[in-house]
Amino acid sequence: MYNPEKKSALIPSSEITDEAVFRQRRTLIKASMTGAAGALLGYSAGVTANTSATGFRTSEELTSKKTVTTYNNFYELGTDKGDPARYADRLVTDPWSVEIDGECNKPGKLTLEDVLKPHDIEERIYRLRCVEAWSMVIPWNGFSLGDLLKRFEPNGNAKYVAFETIVDERLPGQRVPVLEWPYREGLRMDEAMHPLTMIATGVYGEDMPNQNGAPLRLVVPWKYGFKSIKSIVRISFTEKQPPTSWNMSAPHEYGFYSNVNPEVSHPRWSQAKERRLAGESKGISSLFTPKVDTAFLNGYADQVASLYTDMDLKKHF
Ligand code: MTE
Repeated sequence: MYNPEKKSALIPSSEITDEAVFRQRRTLIKASMTGAAGALLGYSAGVTANTSATGFRTSEELTSKKTVTTYNNFYELGTDKGDPARYADRLVTDPWSVEIDGECNKPGKLTLEDVLKPHDIEERIYRLRCVEAWSMVIPWNGFSLGDLLKRFEPNGNAKYVAFETIVDERLPGQRVPVLEWPYREGLRMDEAMHPLTMIATGVYGEDMPNQNGAPLRLVVPWKYGFKSIKSIVRISFTEKQPPTSWNMSAPHEYGFYSNVNPEVSHPRWSQAKERRLAGESKGISSLFTPKVDTAFLNGYADQVASLYTDMDLKKHF
């Protein structure tokens, strides 16, 4: 993937989102939630740690909206960090449908509307840690993937869930064989059903920008960013571990699990530390942001370490 020493890593100071506007929007979102949901999400008084008890909302400083929406990895739109925003209009999201197949009782093809209809959209603030050793804190909107998957009634053979992104000749990056298209990702069933695993439909209180994976993308906060597949058109329940794009492309660099782990280094980037990209109050160049220690499972160990108790994570990286 990307070379951190390249010029495109520089983020100008002009990108700071007007904090007052953002706070106001958040207050609106909060006000529209019921007390019970608020408590669940950690809005209740007394939550002072970096994460709420459930991990749904970190209170760390947000990365600016400008950075979140202009510094992207979305190889279907190009390999430069600015390409996804630059070519965002090449991704056509209307009409959109999602095909569900494999080991389940209720397969089928759903329109985007049918995918979304039964779900309440909530805001969650998650860290996203890229294997390239930068990280962001992002306010996503969406709902738990598990709530969607249950609707298709996965059967006893469903051990994994596989995801695919759209293939469309209008996507400029797909004219280049940097990866084998479609982009593919997968999760073990218990990872997919974990309440932290999210289908995101928006960011910063607005509809998902194309460059961030409109209209539906995955967000798996304890795994490296590349697991969070964008613009999903297929969800398959499988018995065998499904192939995943980065593992197919460089198996010695990218494993199936891809859990954030400061002790398992990538051949080209140390995973011990990370650079947190521009916060609301700074807007400074990423290259001058001091590095911070990377936390095991990206800081979500309390919630998800139990998924891996019997596994050697150096082997299953
Ligand atoms: N999904 C698709 N379809 N194509 C991609 O190239 N890049 C991944 C992931 N999902 C990618 C993708 C990588 S490497 C990262 S770090 C995250 O998306 C970036 O998400 P963001 O641009 O919204 O921050």
